[in-house]
Amino acid sequence: MTGATSALQQAPRIAVLGAGHVGPVIARVAVEAGYQVAIAASGDPEQIALITQVLVPGADPRWAADAVQGSDIVVLAIPLHKFAGVDPSLVAGKVVVDTMNYWPPVDGVQEMFEDRRYGSSEIVQRRLPRSSIVKTLNHIGYHELDDDRRPAGSPERRALGVAGDDPGAVDVVGDVIERIGYDTVRLEGLRAGRLLEPGGPVFGASLRRSAFEQAVGAKAA
Ligand SMILES: NC(=O)c1ccc[n+]([C@@H]2O[C@H](COP(=O)([O-])OP(=O)(O)OC[C@H]3O[C@@H](n4cnc5c(N)ncnc54)[C@H](OP(=O)(O)O)[C@@H]3O)[C@@H](O)[C@H]2O)c1
Repeated sequence: MTGATSALQQAPRIAVLGAGHVGPVIARVAVEAGYQVAIAASGDPEQIALITQVLVPGADPRWAADAVQGSDIVVLAIPLHKFAGVDPSLVAGKVVVDTMNYWPPVDGVQEMFEDRRYGSSEIVQRRLPRSSIVKTLNHIGYHELDDDRRPAGSPERRALGVAGDDPGAVDVVGDVIERIGYDTVRLEGLRAGRLLEPGGPVFGASLRRSAFEQAVGAKAA
């Protein structure tokens, strides 16, 4: 277990950065799974107080720095073209869930993410060297994330991929994904997270665990 995961207790506290389409849904499913959740946009929490009250009752709207400081896991649910504005020291020592996708039609051409030898989360990891990046939740739409949750053991339970280079961080995030209502399929490192990206075999696909494993050629942990 690394520095980013050694201090984690049984129920990690979660900070969701991003209060647009997907951020509030991630926050809501986490609250409903019993986690303590803070949510932040790019500015004053007053501006997301109403959205939070309506869409994510039980979550705490905060300034991003405060949300991160009080958390164990930070979820990046911001457009990738805003990522360059995230201060690496803000999330140093944290487990960081990267839900972001690179969409040039939406994000514009982002030089940092144009090197196709690397997956977008590998590039995120290089820019946040003191954080443990785990890629997941990028390949499910925000409506589905709400609707497709099922209890463990349900034959309809959908699988989501989880990829990271820090096994402890992958364990911690995998537990969260399981607890919110999905099976997990662990990929072999952040590099394999490219399989989860737009254009990959499981992007947007609703698959049970065995079909997901087959699609990515992985074995579940
Ligand atoms: N939409 C989906 O179904 C879906 C599913 C999976 C993954 N994703 C990925 O999730 C990311 C967000 O997508 P979205 O559709 O939710 O975007 P969106 O609706 O445009 O929301 C963007 C949010 O990010 C906030 N933000 C920007 N910079 C920030 C910062 N430095 N710190 C904290 N918050 C910041 C914005 O706050 P302000 O308004 O205050 O700037 C806004 O609340 C994208 O990378 C996307 O690929 C989306």
